[in-house]
Amino acid sequence: MGWHVNLTAYDEVESLDNFDESSFSTYCADRLAHTTPVIDFLRTELPTLDNQSKVIEIGSGNSALLYRLEQEGMLGDALGVEISASRHRFAEKFKTHIGNSNVHNLNENFLDMAPANNTSLVLGVDVVFQLIAALYEGADQDALTWIRNALSPEGAVVLELRSFDEYLSSIQSFGGTSLQLWEEFPTADPFEFVLGDISLDKEECLIWKKTFFKRGTMERSRFENVLKPYTPESITTCLEAAGFGSIKIFPGWKPGEDSSNFIVLARIR
Ligand SMILES: C[S@@+](CC[C@H](N)C(=O)[O-])C[C@H]1O[C@@H](n2cnc3c(N)ncnc32)[C@H](O)[C@@H]1O
Repeated sequence: MGWHVNLTAYDEVESLDNFDESSFSTYCADRLAHTTPVIDFLRTELPTLDNQSKVIEIGSGNSALLYRLEQEGMLGDALGVEISASRHRFAEKFKTHIGNSNVHNLNENFLDMAPANNTSLVLGVDVVFQLIAALYEGADQDALTWIRNALSPEGAVVLELRSFDEYLSSIQSFGGTSLQLWEEFPTADPFEFVLGDISLDKEECLIWKKTFFKRGTMERSRFENVLKPYTPESITTCLEAAGFGSIKIFPGWKPGEDSSNFIVLARIR
């Protein structure tokens, strides 16, 4: 696979240089607490997850979700695959900080991973599946085939996806120009704001450029990534083509959540 902006987009994210011991500890606690809706969803939808379950998370970031699953007795052994070296280093320090021993953090491209098997759950939280799908034509099928082969017969894949409908319709209504958006981070985050600039490429993927503003300074950092939008219908078609069935779509992690994110849960057909 050649170079793609998505392979390096998160290179500086959660750099340990941005934390001292106290802010690191506060941030870790905040990230663990932030996983509660996902934990509640998994406890309801996959009640057989227990301290024997093998879990793989694609694009595991700081691995907070895997550490929390372990704390809740919902995994026995886990692999977190994260391409960003800075996030991997953060995840390793986080692991020592909370004394975890059964989450294994791999710093590599998910699409280069050796085959796995007998996995109870493969997770892709936030837009990670959409970052991988935008890498090349057919990357989504390659990823889903790997996941299918990794699952045990009773296993499940859970992906969080965004249709980006609201951005697509805003961009279209402005005649194909870009859209700018501000977002504010919680106070535990070393960054205070992000300014997003969203446009479309010729494959109708979103090109999302972000400028981050560091809290209390004039320092800025930038990144860009490309995301393939999915609707519940289009991801169902992809999953079926890769041999999945029993496909369930949820409007968010929490019942009644009104968000543009949706969750898909599928099993081997
Ligand atoms: C939107 S973030 C989500 C991180 C984490 N799942 C969360 O919810 O906090 C996407 C993550 O996927 C990682 N990623 C993107 N492409 C990847 C790939 N091909 N292999 C492994 N990790 C990847 C990025 O580096 C980034 O940390």
